[in-house]
Amino acid sequence: EKSPHIYTREEVKSHSSLETRIWVTLGCEVFDVTEFVDLHPGGPSKLMLAAGGPLEPFWALYAVHDQAHVREILAQYKVGELSSEDKAPSTLKTSDPYADDPVRHPALKVNSQRPFNAEPPPELLTENYITPNPIFFTRNHLPVPNLEPETYRLHVVGPPGCQSLSLSLDDLYQFPKHEVTVTLQCAGNRRSEMTQFKEVKGLEWNAGAISTARWAGARLCDVLAKAGHQLRETEAHVCFEGLDSDPTGTAYGASIPLARAMDPEAEVLLAYEMNGQPLPRDHGFPVRVVVPGVVGARHVKWLGKVSVEPEESYSHWQRRDYKGFSPSVDWDTVDFDSAPSIQELPVQSAITEPKDGETVQSGEVTIKGYAWSGGGRAIVRVDVSLDGGLTWQVAELNGEEQRPRKAWAWRLWQLQAPVPAGKKELNIVCKAVDDSYNVQPDSVAPIWNLRGVLSNAWHRVHVRVTP
Ligand code: HEM
Ligand code: MTE
Repeated sequence: EKSPHIYTREEVKSHSSLETRIWVTLGCEVFDVTEFVDLHPGGPSKLMLAAGGPLEPFWALYAVHDQAHVREILAQYKVGELSSEDKAPSTLKTSDPYADDPVRHPALKVNSQRPFNAEPPPELLTENYITPNPIFFTRNHLPVPNLEPETYRLHVVGPPGCQSLSLSLDDLYQFPKHEVTVTLQCAGNRRSEMTQFKEVKGLEWNAGAISTARWAGARLCDVLAKAGHQLRETEAHVCFEGLDSDPTGTAYGASIPLARAMDPEAEVLLAYEMNGQPLPRDHGFPVRVVVPGVVGARHVKWLGKVSVEPEESYSHWQRRDYKGFSPSVDWDTVDFDSAPSIQELPVQSAITEPKDGETVQSGEVTIKGYAWSGGGRAIVRVDVSLDGGLTWQVAELNGEEQRPRKAWAWRLWQLQAPVPAGKKELNIVCKAVDDSYNVQPDSVAPIWNLRGVLSNAWHRVHVRVTP
């Protein structure tokens, strides 16, 4: 038998488009799967996510590949093996503050590497009702702290008359364990559509700065009650501080009204589990706040301190960011004190399939997406148009039933529709309605704001139709 061709990871990586052919690796073996792309039962676009790199992180998400016949298919395409120094991923040591950040899933579309900000690609985002942990969107402002579970302590500080607590993880496990499915959305989700209209300051998020998980932990109201809190001051706030900090020692912080924190029905959690696992480092290990129905920015990760204060958090991210303004306000005229901090988010929906610019078959088209509203408001309907909003059809809603006033998680939706005969292109649009009959605005212009937050106009996708 001939000895196998030896390739480096760099060489494999250079084969990631149909022009250069599609190579992937499994273990130390290298495969050229170009001929299989169009035959893939999961679709070509999913296979392409792994082009030029390892299959393992993708196959870990889809157990269907754990079968002998899948290995046999792959074996036909073997072209060689990885060089010995390339078998183990290299480790690098530097004084870079981000050097200790965790390893991320290669499917994530990275908007910024340091700090790490990334979203799942649309074709994976709505593949599962519960987003798998490795592809849950990540929004970090700072390096990820590396915290030891044994020495971790959460400081709960109250006003005079209340007890201060220092809680270990074991102490937190003693509170009743509460579990709830919650969708987290960043205020900057779909910002790139605002940027297309007029420049804004912020990361270029597409429609994937949103994900859903089953969170478990102690209810914040139970922990505050243990410290002796009652809902006396209806104007008070609960401030959170993360253990991530910048070189000057300033930590990430945010706050929510005390009334929400103390309301057992609001189900605010100090979460230590995400989809049955300890929190991944990127998502706040060992403890984060989960505030159902509220903008992601308040779900403070790597939680170090909880305090009840007469005023909102003085954090930059509470007072100088994550606020909405009129389209007329620019960076010369903005007065951050004039607008309230974003808490509950407006009704939102987006199309994840097909993708903008894609070509679809004539006959029938399948359109998929998500819909969600803040404050526990349920989604009552998603309308879809194939002609830019002239005529509409109602999509089918999938995923968990929503509880009235506690609809914390998204609905996924789907519409199968005939492609009108003779159409060469489709202007697909979606819009959702929540149970307060709030609707999405039809365009970006009236809601454009200098920070590019609260971007929830009708979502539009333009596709061509093959004749
Ligand atoms: C399904 C092979 C890469 C996602 C399948 C099936 C095969 C297959 C044979 C059908 C399994 C069955 O039902 O028994 C392969 C091979 C790959 C590859 C040989 C690499 C060259 C990927 C990647 C992803 C992916 C990178 C994800 C990002 C899926 C999904 C299904 C599937 C979601 C299920 C489709 C459905 O049942 O609707 N794949 N796959 N595959 N694959 Fe892959
Ligand atoms: N908490 C800390 N400590 N540091 C952060 O940078 N980012 C916030 C919030 N909590 C952040 C944080 C923002 S803006 C969002 S949208 C969510 O975390 C994102 O949570 P995720 O990365 O788990 O998706």
